[in-house]
Amino acid sequence: MKHFFYVILLLIIFITNLNTLAQKNIAVLGTGYVGLIAGACFADFGNNVICADIIKEKIDTLNNGEIPIYEPGLKELVNKCIKNNNLKFTIDLEYAIKNSEIILIAVGTPMADNGQADLSAIKQVAEIIGKNLNNYKIICTKSTVPIGTGKLIKEIIKNLSNNINFDYLSNPEFLREGSALKDFLEPDRVIIGCESIHAYNIINEIYEPLINKKIPFLFTDVVTAETIKYASNSFLATKVSFINEIAELCEKIGANIELVAKGMGLDSRIGTKFLKPGPGFGGSCFPKDMQALIFLANNLGLNLKVLQASVEANEHQRELIINKLLNLLNYKIKNKKIGILGLAFKANTDDIRCSPSIDIIKKLLNLGAKINAYDPVAMNNTRKVLPNINYCQSAYEAIVNVDAILILTEWPEFMNLDLKIVGELVSNKIILDSRNILDSNTTRKFGFKFDNIGNA
Ligand code: UGA
Repeated sequence: MKHFFYVILLLIIFITNLNTLAQKNIAVLGTGYVGLIAGACFADFGNNVICADIIKEKIDTLNNGEIPIYEPGLKELVNKCIKNNNLKFTIDLEYAIKNSEIILIAVGTPMADNGQADLSAIKQVAEIIGKNLNNYKIICTKSTVPIGTGKLIKEIIKNLSNNINFDYLSNPEFLREGSALKDFLEPDRVIIGCESIHAYNIINEIYEPLINKKIPFLFTDVVTAETIKYASNSFLATKVSFINEIAELCEKIGANIELVAKGMGLDSRIGTKFLKPGPGFGGSCFPKDMQALIFLANNLGLNLKVLQASVEANEHQRELIINKLLNLLNYKIKNKKIGILGLAFKANTDDIRCSPSIDIIKKLLNLGAKINAYDPVAMNNTRKVLPNINYCQSAYEAIVNVDAILILTEWPEFMNLDLKIVGELVSNKIILDSRNILDSNTTRKFGFKFDNIGNA
């Protein structure tokens, strides 16, 4: 009987420990891509998550079961966690902080006019955290912040926190828009920069499902973690600029860029990913992070020549697209109607920040062209920056009576266009495919004057 009693007691202790191990109270400050995905995934791992944001409309939208951004699978996950009662949304940052043991900072760090990252939101939340630190907490930055920002955040919190103890961590996020959930749940690695073993262990607990999947975790100091994030994005962006330059070379010498990229990528030291030529990189990360790194290096008296060249090559890529279109139109573009397919900076997102499409449309408008545009999800965002172009409800509607079609985003639906119908709808059979999604031979067979990137 006594023996039985001890077994039950041990079982109770084990179950209680299991609960404290598995369940943490987490506040996520900022409900952009990173904050929403991290919040929903950590809630799905079994933690209690409060996502807080100062923008009331965003929180109202989320509380109504809607998602302010387009991201495949996110709505379903958020609603599942809300139903399970472990994901909440609030505009009350103080409440979220006071009721959590782990605070994830996931506010935006947009690019300021001088190329520096704008840290006003970071500083603001650091102050709110400092003023509301009611007991020991772990404060972890997930936003991409310039190298050295961790030190600043720590100082701000320390100065306001009345000597209450806290640990600070940098845990940069590597998810991509459009495949954010998969990237969060199956990352190539997790980087944790901190100076406290205790904090590292606690963070490991909330990442337990990824540790169980044997995802590599790298433990570094804070400034090294911050640098890994910037160096990774800059390297990937440089890979894109590199392949775009090789594509231009391929055109001149008659090589096939797809096969060149494939042949290079088969070397495991190079790898097949991020070798797709296109209209140049865009989005809210690569252009901003490259500028921020170059700016930081300049301030330290360093000239990052490779990164600088990669940015210049990227700007050149926009010009290249314009020149190709001009060439197809025999350099007569004034009053020509161009059917633009794709506005988002890449497929599977409604994000148009630094989108090649937006830059190119602006240049075309300056040259006197008229624009019909279609994108499956990014038209509402585009209307805010380009109110005066003609938005269409389908790809086919966007190409009616146009003088040329310009494909700028690699949406799958553009790959399956019926070229016979396309030929009947347009005024001039011209297609410029800046994402290499159409087969050039087939397109030419249907009588189109055709060009893409990297093929003679
Ligand atoms: C990028 C990184 O890939 C993520 O790891 C990182 O977490 C994220 O930035 C961030 O810092 O938040 P994202 O901006 O969502 O993710 O987009 P990517 O898929 O990386 O594409 C960036 C740009 O490069 C796009 O304009 C895309 O069209 C272009 N690209 C990408 C190419 O032109 N060719 C390629 O082969 C790959």
